[in-house]
Amino acid sequence: MRIVYAAVTAAALLVASSVSAQTTTQNFDSGWLFAKGDIEGAETIAGAGSDWEKVSLPHDWAISGPFDQYAPATGSGGWLPTGVVWYRKPFTLPEADKGKRVFIEFDGIMDRGGVWINGHHVGHPPNGYSSVRYEITDHLKWGAENVIAVRADTSAQPASRWYAGGGIYRHVRLITSGDIHVDGWGTYVTTPKIDADRATVKVESAIINRSKSARTAHLEISLTGPDGKPAGTFKGAPQTLPIGRSVKLNAEGAIPNPKLWDIGQGHLYRADIKVISDTGEVLETDMETFGVRQIEFRADSGFWLNGKNVKLKGTAIHADGGAFGMAVPLSFYERRLKGLQALGINAIRTAHHPFSPEFLDLCDRLGIVVMNEAFDMWTVAKNPYDYHLFFTDWSSIDARDFVKRDRNHPSVAIWSIGNEIHDTPYPVVAKSIVARLKTIFNTEDPSRPVTMALFRPNTTGDYKNGLADMLDVVGQNYRENELTQAHKDKPTRKIIGTENGKNRANWLPVRDYAPYAGMFLWTGADYLGEADRAGWPFISNPSGLVDRTDVVKPIGWERAAWWSETPVVKIGRRVTEVIDTSELPTMVGVAMPQPKGPGVLNDWTPTDLKPHTEKVEIVTNAAEVELFLNGKSLGKKPRNADDSAIKYDVAYAAGTIRVAAFDSSGKKVAEDELKTAGAPAAIRLVAEQKAIAPTFDDIGYIRAEVVDAKGVRVPNAASLLTATIEGAGHLAAFDNGDPTDSTLFQSPVRKAWNGRALVMVCATDTTGKIKVTVSGEGLKPATVTLQAKGLN
Ligand code: GAL
Repeated sequence: MRIVYAAVTAAALLVASSVSAQTTTQNFDSGWLFAKGDIEGAETIAGAGSDWEKVSLPHDWAISGPFDQYAPATGSGGWLPTGVVWYRKPFTLPEADKGKRVFIEFDGIMDRGGVWINGHHVGHPPNGYSSVRYEITDHLKWGAENVIAVRADTSAQPASRWYAGGGIYRHVRLITSGDIHVDGWGTYVTTPKIDADRATVKVESAIINRSKSARTAHLEISLTGPDGKPAGTFKGAPQTLPIGRSVKLNAEGAIPNPKLWDIGQGHLYRADIKVISDTGEVLETDMETFGVRQIEFRADSGFWLNGKNVKLKGTAIHADGGAFGMAVPLSFYERRLKGLQALGINAIRTAHHPFSPEFLDLCDRLGIVVMNEAFDMWTVAKNPYDYHLFFTDWSSIDARDFVKRDRNHPSVAIWSIGNEIHDTPYPVVAKSIVARLKTIFNTEDPSRPVTMALFRPNTTGDYKNGLADMLDVVGQNYRENELTQAHKDKPTRKIIGTENGKNRANWLPVRDYAPYAGMFLWTGADYLGEADRAGWPFISNPSGLVDRTDVVKPIGWERAAWWSETPVVKIGRRVTEVIDTSELPTMVGVAMPQPKGPGVLNDWTPTDLKPHTEKVEIVTNAAEVELFLNGKSLGKKPRNADDSAIKYDVAYAAGTIRVAAFDSSGKKVAEDELKTAGAPAAIRLVAEQKAIAPTFDDIGYIRAEVVDAKGVRVPNAASLLTATIEGAGHLAAFDNGDPTDSTLFQSPVRKAWNGRALVMVCATDTTGKIKVTVSGEGLKPATVTLQAKGLN
């Protein structure tokens, strides 16, 4: 210690010749070269061959397929390819910037990344979901070409329980700073005290001084409100920044009459941060977005947001974007999350690893509560080549980076340190790991509680051996009545359902037990992979409330009737065979859902058109419904107190079945109608956007339906469709949501599923028209035209 101090003191005496520059961040997604295979010498300066493909990031190479029932990743990985690939990017930095510090930041390299700059190895992140930052300053050439090379390796399989993608599938940034700069993810903004007329804002910035002299500096903060107007300024006290040390500078101020972040109301503030020296020099700048909201978990009454008791009505989702694989345009996530919100979902659990930063930005904007989860396994494997191989060495680093990266998001309400961790049968090990991880989370973010998704705690003894009570909030997967009992046994426990089945029997114990903070259904949306137990040809897991293209399933409408706060009514008919795992147990080790089982369909076109009885089920949150077949009333029925569907036995007749829903005063609040379809005759297209820009995130979504001569969607139509794109755009992906369809998502030809498909297009220019035509044999084709637009 003394030696270090002596060195520091000597260095401080040197005349300052440090580079002072504020951090700038550059998007580093374009201009990469890509090649498959473990190419010898690819990390060296001269490493690229002429056959390397030009790509832009985010780039998931594996989603191009092919799907192969003998793929090493198995159905867990969606039968998609795995292996070693390389990326390289040549780039030049201006001579004038010489002396600045340069970092490269990756939001995810799948998997076991290796990063080289000009042939020098700078890092080896083994966790494909972690954001990592490397300093590359020492190996750079200024005013001349540099090469960054990245190796991504998914060759060791099986490695994941779901589709994990491959390559540099998230964004990359190049960060340039001076010698005094914010230490990686070092800024932390909290609002520790909130009253109606005033919120306290605390800003802490870890500033590292790598210059040749000690400095004195303070923080100056300017706030901007959700309305874009200035919302105040404040300063912190000056502090010394000794040479070579990272020091936390602080500033505390207030926002008068704060506009609170809330569910469905993503009001966001912005803090512009300046690090100012005692001579008035701006040494560094930073910016963070934050929200003013108060979260609390209580043992007697569950979750509280801004002083209101709120049941968390959540779903887990996986990170994949269906046809886009793991390189997901933001608009895909936005469409998905808004769709789930429309069903009454107010919370999302990021199963079972860090998602991208922009996913959390989106949850911030949309006002969605997030349970942010770190790991799916600790030291005990779920697959032979999963992260358990690296957990002991890397989990502290990955956990710390994760919490520091994500702690400013108002959407994040709780951390989960693990899902169904198989270390818990060895409590002495598991408890040590809980203690270690929890210390990291609680230290880097004292403002949020930590949970984990306990796996059969009564079998492993977590409630008895003290493990459960090490958690701030006790989370348990499934078995709702066990968690309720654990609370009754010890009423000081705060409890939450970290993962739950979708049946009424899973919902009612949560609904009716005030201490239960809420639940997270498995799952919000169908996801690629975890198709091993259903088996080929399943490529995706069909347990979502919505399918891969975000079409709401009957189980999703049922959920809306239970969870939505706006009026919902939907007609379904019960059938014996449907691809929908809703009504079957979804617990590991019990019985993995069978691909097909009894369920409900939202159509009035049974295969049997002869006279028979249809079991009609109406889901609603209204007080009363009236059903009509071909204009004739089949009677009114009240909503069932136990929230079960309202049932009618209906003598089938082709035509129109309609339901009207009424509130308790008799006012009609919602309606639904289904018509019997004839033979497929035409295609109908609905474009969700009018104009799209040529960016990675902006996608035009065009819904295609196979309809009969009268325009009724033909629910069993499986016509082969062809999508043709002309003008200033191209096909980004084509999907139909069918979990058993292994047609490549890039193919312009695919079948309709349930009479539907989704065309996804991107713009290739900033002007011009994008003409999208979908045709099919024997069907009248349809065309829609979108406009290519510039960036805003
Ligand atoms: C859970 C697990 C999820 C998923 C689900 C399938 O136990 O946490 O990741 O595998 O089972 O039903």
